[in-house]
Amino acid sequence: MTSAVALPFPAELKAAGTAGVPFEVVASLADLPPGAMLRFSRGDLDVLIVHSEAGIVATEDRCPHMSAPLSEGHLEGCVVHCPLHRGSFDLRDGEVVTFPTTGGLDAEGRSRAPWTPDGSDPRPAPTDAKARARALTRVRRLRYLPLRIKDGQVEVALPR
Ligand code: FES
Repeated sequence: MTSAVALPFPAELKAAGTAGVPFEVVASLADLPPGAMLRFSRGDLDVLIVHSEAGIVATEDRCPHMSAPLSEGHLEGCVVHCPLHRGSFDLRDGEVVTFPTTGGLDAEGRSRAPWTPDGSDPRPAPTDAKARARALTRVRRLRYLPLRIKDGQVEVALPR
């Protein structure tokens, strides 16, 4: 059996609706080896469970930028990389590691400029409503779902 610990996360980043909610078995620990990312859906909620190098954590499977599924990205240690605009997020504290290429507002509301990845040609920046929407899109921190490991099972508190 794989041994693993649940990754602690900042209490203020606990997903809304999870306080006092019972834990539910969502996976076997055996199905989540180190480096694995597992997605499941419950109603309209998509959940991502990650076995990072610091432990196992559950978050919504929605990028805090424009909601792309992080499960389609890749994991590097404790950092999950979004497949859509190259944003990356630290699973230990929910913080942005690399800001999305589109720019926008960070979690504190500071403006970040768009950028072009190495090896790509810069594209002309839009100057219309699309540009304003990008500039005002706030990139928040990850939100976490409470998770525990019990008797070889991964249990998560799903919001109600
Ligand atoms: S949706 Fe993830 S970086 Fe844009």
